[in-house]
Amino acid sequence: KVLIVDFGSQVTQLIARRLREASVYCEIHPFDKAEAVVDEMKPQAIILSGGPASVLEPDSPRIGRKLFDLGLPMLAICYGQQLLCDVLGGKVEGGHHREFGRAEIVLTEETPLFAGIGAVDHREPVWMSHGDRVVAIPEGFRVVATSAGAPFAAIADEARRIYAVQFHPEVHHTPRGAEIYRNFLFGVAGLKGDWTMAAYRDEKIAQIREQVGSAKVICGLSGGVDSSVAAVLIHEAIGDQLTCVFVDTGLLRKDEAAQVTTLFREHYNVPLVHVDASGEFLGALAGVSDPETKRKTIGRLFVEVFDREAAKIEGAEFLAQGTLYPDVIESVSATGGPSAVIKSHHNVGGLPDFMKLKLVEPLRELFKDEVRALGRELGLTDAFVGRHPFPGPGLAIRIPGEITPEAVATLQEADAIYLEEIRNAGLYDQIWQAFAVLLPVKTVGVMGDARTYEKVLALRAVTSTDGMTADFFPFPWEVLGRTATRIINEVRGVNRVVYDVTSKPPGTIEWE
Ligand code: XMP
Repeated sequence: KVLIVDFGSQVTQLIARRLREASVYCEIHPFDKAEAVVDEMKPQAIILSGGPASVLEPDSPRIGRKLFDLGLPMLAICYGQQLLCDVLGGKVEGGHHREFGRAEIVLTEETPLFAGIGAVDHREPVWMSHGDRVVAIPEGFRVVATSAGAPFAAIADEARRIYAVQFHPEVHHTPRGAEIYRNFLFGVAGLKGDWTMAAYRDEKIAQIREQVGSAKVICGLSGGVDSSVAAVLIHEAIGDQLTCVFVDTGLLRKDEAAQVTTLFREHYNVPLVHVDASGEFLGALAGVSDPETKRKTIGRLFVEVFDREAAKIEGAEFLAQGTLYPDVIESVSATGGPSAVIKSHHNVGGLPDFMKLKLVEPLRELFKDEVRALGRELGLTDAFVGRHPFPGPGLAIRIPGEITPEAVATLQEADAIYLEEIRNAGLYDQIWQAFAVLLPVKTVGVMGDARTYEKVLALRAVTSTDGMTADFFPFPWEVLGRTATRIINEVRGVNRVVYDVTSKPPGTIEWE
């Protein structure tokens, strides 16, 4: 086990990611909890993250000597390095030499940390991002790499197994960063790399049981992968103390509501309340065409409906959410403690304010692909866990302009054909997200001998790793052609199909 002490870096979660990729279990804890956690967790190594603060400021986030004196192997990154030097008797200076972005380190001495990376004088590209820098290192340390902006780019006290680097080995722009982490974990700290998703599942089940006791838990199911995996995991932990509430907005993909209810009720035997609120949602959306108003209307109503249904479940004390790591921004301010902010954009069910329930969030430490792996571990099928992401507001933001029940039905049909053709072509797993958009634009066509005047349907498909940036998917023309022919023949109200070739940026993935 490795303890990652978080000082608020935007990339702390990537450290966790590198460790998981090396099959090493780790937990991230904010700096002000680290000393308390260490006794209970009994880590075998400690990593200090980077962070936006400066150790030169009086209120900067700090840890005391305790963690340094445990005799555990330690790797300190960026701010962590500066803090280490400050605590152990080195010196840090404010940044006249700000260094941001690509840089190059030169290895100056052999060290297990850079084993296999190169010999002395080897130059290695790394990613730097710092204003302050170390100008004198504590006793017992020696310099093992330098860079133009950071004479102490990497330092080591091999006797104590403490290493500190100014650059960020966890980001992709440090191409051999993963090797550096492995060197630390296996070479320096002697860890095994035997952590598995099955072990994670068992650990989480034990944690959920401990957290929840004999209380009842409500889980909001959206039909998506995350909330489904959370629900199945919690059900495995506490059985029928869990009730799932599935608010059906009527804005899901074709047949998806039925699939979700069947899967949970029949396959997993999870108690499930299916709330068909489609009438309410469509009613509230009537006459609304502004995208932001649509989002807000749906979000507000979702909370109302969920709240109403949850109130019927007597004695519930916990609310389960499928919050993932990227949804959680752990911000560590210079003065106060860390505060967890959940992006409202991605979490339609931002419910706890309304409901006074305690949260159970068993996926908080996981990335999307890890959630998928956990889902497989829990017996969900590849097809289920591999499903494309789907936005909370659903099809409402794929119907520019006003939403009518007819438009929703038309879009569901067209979307289903599109996805079927993608699956038939064997392309589904190469695509991050594919969907159709029903435009409020009519064009002229000819079918048989008759003139038609119907709506345009836009097809969208993108590749992406995280949804932050995306490229349009380069379909073979025949797949697009076949899809267009089928949609125009089989879906009433559409007589023209176009393909969206915009990347993100400058476009967004969704049209609204
Ligand atoms: P954009 O359109 O911003 O989308 O490029 C990026 C990713 O986020 C999804 N998305 C949402 N998900 N609620 C959600 O839960 C929303 O309001 C929302 N808007 C966009 C989108 O589907 C894509 O995967």
